[in-house]
Amino acid sequence: MLPEPRLQQLLSWIDQLGELGIEPGIGRWRRAFSAADTRAVELITGWMRAAGLTVRRDAAGNLYGRRAGKLTGARVVATGSHIDSVKNGGKFDGVLGALTGLAAVSHLLETHGDPVMPLEVVAICGEEGSRFPGGFLGSFGMVGRLDDAELGKRDLQGITMAEAMCAAGLDPGALPGAVRTDLGAFVELHIEQGGVLDRKGIPIGVVTGIVGLKFVRARVTGRPDHAGTTPMDLRSDALRGAMEIYLEATRFVERAGGASVITCGNIAVSPGATNIVPGLVEFTIDLRDADAGHLQWLYDEVYAIARRITASRGLGLDWDVFNDVPPVPCAPHLSEAIRAACGALEIPFLDMPSGAGHDAQVLAQLCPVAMLFVPSVDGRSHCPDEHTRPDDIHRGASVLAETLYRLAYSPSEVTV
Ligand code: HGY
Ligand code: MN
Ligand code: MN
Repeated sequence: MLPEPRLQQLLSWIDQLGELGIEPGIGRWRRAFSAADTRAVELITGWMRAAGLTVRRDAAGNLYGRRAGKLTGARVVATGSHIDSVKNGGKFDGVLGALTGLAAVSHLLETHGDPVMPLEVVAICGEEGSRFPGGFLGSFGMVGRLDDAELGKRDLQGITMAEAMCAAGLDPGALPGAVRTDLGAFVELHIEQGGVLDRKGIPIGVVTGIVGLKFVRARVTGRPDHAGTTPMDLRSDALRGAMEIYLEATRFVERAGGASVITCGNIAVSPGATNIVPGLVEFTIDLRDADAGHLQWLYDEVYAIARRITASRGLGLDWDVFNDVPPVPCAPHLSEAIRAACGALEIPFLDMPSGAGHDAQVLAQLCPVAMLFVPSVDGRSHCPDEHTRPDDIHRGASVLAETLYRLAYSPSEVTV
């Protein structure tokens, strides 16, 4: 297990980052390329340097801490996660993976010296989509998916992603240089964000696969009218259409069963006055499933529901898919390394899927990936009550260190 002083240092790092991005009346909202994000990068840069890592930031805003391996030209063993947060988010989502990665690598360097394979810790930028719609900004940069459509996405102030990058001192023109071709393995520690491990009292989840997701922005267009003088049969009520779509789509997904989920997390009604029939409604749909074919089938059915309802009510429909990431399996040989690490430390584990999306599912385009979960108390996440106990953080960081040892110090055991 990681020594107690290392754990205390890790807990202090988590607290320090947790203080960044707190907005009055909103809570923690640490957005990509914000001042809080930049301060987080500065803090982690200092901690990485103190650990003896070479530090650089790529054009997509990802921060890397690297230690070269004895084996020249070998593929990189990387670990980390994102450091942005959702609006009114908790202090462990993403951050815990970046900081336990740094604590684990620091411990390995201090205990075993230089690795055989190059080791990197990455603090990934903008996974949540809490500033620019969609998310996975940093990992998209690593796989070369930050195209003009992504760079043109705007935040609530109308600032484009490219403008925000420039304001943070980054150069979108240098994005081709952010694409990685040298990764051999990526292992991400993350809070479970559900209640399975906490309910079962099991400290480690070994992720078998990461859910696929499709995000849609739907615009239903009707006609604003006087709420008192317009008979019910003469209305073109955009909100009635939108609510019927969501009600029927949620019933459909519930009937589909399995791990399929659908969420409307955001809706805007305009003009938005008590005595005006809504003329326009914009709402988002977050649709997820662990199987790519099933996810496509769900999506096609939900879109058909939206078209049928708007057509039957004479409403307009605009349908924009603004995030579309397939499900991915975790690499068996890397998951086996996590299980072996749990065994060596005599820490119980449970194989389980991830219902949350993660950077690892994007980086799976570059190399084999694996994830390990630590419990979320009461399964809460994406809220200020998000919490993971220190002893679970201790176990998670220790298993991560033991896993990275297998991958980067004794690669004969696990080929990377
Ligand atoms: O939405 C998700 O699953 C992740 O927290 N970004
Ligand atoms: Mn999240
Ligand atoms: Mn996350």
